[in-house]
Amino acid sequence: MSHRLAAALAAAGLVTAIAATPASAAPDRHGDKTLGRLAADTHRYFGSATDNPEFSDTAYLGILGSEFNSTTAGNALKWYATEPQQGVFDFTQGDQVLDFARRHHMSFRAHTLVWHNQLPDWLNNGTFTADQLRAILKKHITTVARYYKGKVYSWDVVNEAFNEDGTYRDTIFYRTLGPGYIADALRWAHQADPHAKLYLNDYNIEAIGPKSDAYYNLVKSLKAQHVPIDGVGFQGHLALQYGYPETLQQNLRRFADLGLDVAVTELDIRMYLPADATKLATQADWYARVTKACLAVRRCVGITVWDYTDKYSWIPAVFQGEGAALPYDENLQPKPAYAAIRDALRSAGGH
Ligand code: XIL
Repeated sequence: MSHRLAAALAAAGLVTAIAATPASAAPDRHGDKTLGRLAADTHRYFGSATDNPEFSDTAYLGILGSEFNSTTAGNALKWYATEPQQGVFDFTQGDQVLDFARRHHMSFRAHTLVWHNQLPDWLNNGTFTADQLRAILKKHITTVARYYKGKVYSWDVVNEAFNEDGTYRDTIFYRTLGPGYIADALRWAHQADPHAKLYLNDYNIEAIGPKSDAYYNLVKSLKAQHVPIDGVGFQGHLALQYGYPETLQQNLRRFADLGLDVAVTELDIRMYLPADATKLATQADWYARVTKACLAVRRCVGITVWDYTDKYSWIPAVFQGEGAALPYDENLQPKPAYAAIRDALRSAGGH
């Protein structure tokens, strides 16, 4: 089904008709297989993050549901959204993304249970003893992970736990509970949803260095203690001006060799604006290289872009003067990066 047709059907309220065809089997407008289908041919996923305000954009949803075979809720499952008041839980936004994923046969990466950002005010502004915060954390993880039990492929249990130099990030959780909060969080999440793959997730760990070494040592010790940990997520917020992380593949492999799954979980490749043909060509090359790095490591289970279109990228709002980071432009047209990813996936799948 073409994107245009899918969008038209969606606009006409025939979304269920679309869902009746496995989305990942639908060819794109060029008659080629979609990124999701090509990734599935290698037993992997190619996913996109999405966010609830985008659900009013039917053209956007048409591509999301047809091109990708996995999705991550960009904000819907963060603590401020799921427990906006202490003990009051709200799964409305998470359910909206999950329902879309299920209707389009996409796997669902759940993000995130424990993070220092986007916490509700009651938690940020409160003063809690270690016993109180431990109980709060346990209740949050248990309630949220149990609600989604059996429905999610994976959970990013703890997000961004380390500083650049490999020391623990000074968060409310680390400060109050010490480093053991990570093992506790993993154990509570496992109790609540024994089949979800449990991940630690961070940025600037794509290359081998102090920060990725900290994860390597932590997950090795967690595994030695039989703490339930299934994978490490490499966010992959790359920027042309910082150079390509040359050791990515080697790094993915050393984690995989510990008996873990690895994934690129929030890929985007930003540049200083305006974009031009040269920068877009370099970006396309980097997207292909990341894709090939994942394909070269058996336990690299998939890649997620942090939304697929520049129309909804988080980059311009956070990195002054930067953008154009995603494989589709602001008009939902594929950029050179799209073809580069497709070709990289296709060569691995034997097409
Ligand atoms: C971003 C979202 O995309 C934005 O909409 C939000 O305003 C801020 O957070 N690392 C993460 C993601 O783990 O949760 C962040 O997502 C991007 C950086």
